[in-house]
Amino acid sequence: MSILRTMGIAVALAGLAACSVERPPGGVQGDPVRGKIALTQYACQSCHLIPGVPGSKVYVGRPLSDMGRRKVLAGAVPNDQAGLMRWIRDPQSVDPNTAMPNMGVTERDARDMSAYLLSH
Ligand code: HEC
Repeated sequence: MSILRTMGIAVALAGLAACSVERPPGGVQGDPVRGKIALTQYACQSCHLIPGVPGSKVYVGRPLSDMGRRKVLAGAVPNDQAGLMRWIRDPQSVDPNTAMPNMGVTERDARDMSAYLLSH
């Protein structure tokens, strides 16, 4: 492998690292860094693969990756911050039959979690 190629890969990796800087898209409120911590405090990773959060390899719910690019949540509500917060705080209000439990997430925690999820 040439030195130039090695340098190219290093630059590409640095670019990837820069992409993972926690910055939510425009209009999204909340603190994604705090949101990441809240996601682990509520143990969301026990049922979901979450980008950047180590967890089990047995998933009950779908992976929560690419949330920033999805249009619809749980096949039912628009995937914007309001929809995501509503789902996280009270999934049964969206789908009474969902297997996801209501975990008593506070409004602030749900806002920060959605800020984290929408930035990934
Ligand atoms: C006991 C397992 C379980 C736990 C714990 C859990 N979830 Fe879920 N979650 C599910 C299931 C099952 C679904 C799929 C619901 C559906 O599609 O009807 C889901 C769906 C979702 C969705 C919608 C995903 C999509 O693809 O549309 C989001 C967002 C979500 N969960 C976030 C969270 C967050 C945040 C937490 C932590 C507060 C959490 N979940 C904790 C089981 C769980």
